[in-house]
Amino acid sequence: MSGCPFFEKRHLLFKNKLPSPEEDDASQAGDNKANKGGILYGEYLQLDKILSGQVLQSEVKGNKIHDEHLFIVTHQAYELWFKQILFELDSVREIFTRGHVRDERNMLKVNTRMNRIVTIFKLLVEQFAVLETMTALDFFDFREYLSPASGFQSFQFRLLENKIGVLDNLRVPYNKRHYRDNFKGHDSEILLASEQQPSLLKLVEEWLERTPGLEEDGFNFWSKLETCIFEGLDKDRDNITTIPDAEEKEEMKAEWVQKKEVFTSLFDEKRHEHLLSKGERRLSYKALQGALMIYFYREEPRFQVPFQLLTLLMDMDAPMTKWRYNHVCMVHRMIGSKAGTGGSSGYHYLRSTVSDRYKVFVDLFNLATFLVPHHWVPKLNPNIHTFLYVAECCDSSYGSSEDSDQEWRRLFLCCSCKF
Ligand code: HEM
Repeated sequence: MSGCPFFEKRHLLFKNKLPSPEEDDASQAGDNKANKGGILYGEYLQLDKILSGQVLQSEVKGNKIHDEHLFIVTHQAYELWFKQILFELDSVREIFTRGHVRDERNMLKVNTRMNRIVTIFKLLVEQFAVLETMTALDFFDFREYLSPASGFQSFQFRLLENKIGVLDNLRVPYNKRHYRDNFKGHDSEILLASEQQPSLLKLVEEWLERTPGLEEDGFNFWSKLETCIFEGLDKDRDNITTIPDAEEKEEMKAEWVQKKEVFTSLFDEKRHEHLLSKGERRLSYKALQGALMIYFYREEPRFQVPFQLLTLLMDMDAPMTKWRYNHVCMVHRMIGSKAGTGGSSGYHYLRSTVSDRYKVFVDLFNLATFLVPHHWVPKLNPNIHTFLYVAECCDSSYGSSEDSDQEWRRLFLCCSCKF
């Protein structure tokens, strides 16, 4: 024997003798269960339906164009992922709607699912690269066969926008018409219902409004924050007056005035309402306060998971904007400034949708404008500190996974009355 395992195996093969599993081939151990009954791979996934859905219109019309196959598969893959996102989104909205979000274990579930949505969105942003292996000329060869089909008619995409919270009055009109005019019958009814049901934005808003520590007769975070910030600004102004260099002093003064304006506007509820009416802010005044409170005290145990949720909501908005951007870039290189198959101005219409109008959680991005140095943040008093630190302190939900709203409220009030 040579001592070489390769030689030894070949040697056995020459002798018409295969190694038995017992001898040395662990990869062959096991028992094939497929012919013992039960559901098989193809049946389970209903592949007969999915894999027979690639009908090339170019072929139907007698002029088969190779790249149309990729075009169809790409769109189908997008639609499947939209379906998964909607599935996760509905479950998250359900947890909020039923009030189960008060059980902090459910908050973890919300974050896990939100993270999944974010990961899928990131994949969807990248997926255009596959379609971009098709050239504009290749697309031109079969484009005429698609008309008037268009991604604009994607029912799931519109559902997604509505359920996340794209506001109807902020949508870019489509040929001066409402997007729903492109849908009929049952689809149109479901879309209308999705506009009327509470979106993720609305549910998060209500949840933020309940942030512990906002109560005026309790910790009264907002009023304390206002006092701390304006005291901090006064100190800054006093320091600026001592700067010896005149030019630097002027620069610092101008910066200070700007900063003061930003914070004056933050504490001006009327201004907030005005920005809300223009769509420049989306969250209620109270919810914005809750979000800032979670930001400032994110290290407190009770706020850690909520802070992660706020981060995930931005993580979701960002790839949605990138999706729109990548899509419009691809459209530009595929059809230039020609009209879309659906009938819009094409590139120009799509370009106008890549804007903050479609950024649902825009307020969370803007929170960074209002961040202040650590020492300007109101100190937690021992009561609220204990409440935010010890999750079990008064959370009935730790006793059972079924959330008891009233019980929670009673215990929370008993705790918060001490603040
Ligand atoms: C060659 C590739 C593509 C081209 C040239 C293209 C072109 C267009 C155009 C011109 C529009 C505007 C509506 C119209 O007038 O038709 C549009 C909208 C849309 N497309 Fe595409 N598209 C492409 C690929 C995709 C893919 C892969 C998806 C994935 C689902 C998609 C989803 C959408 C959606 C959802 C809209 C509506 C966007 C909105 O109104 O905000 N498109 N597309």
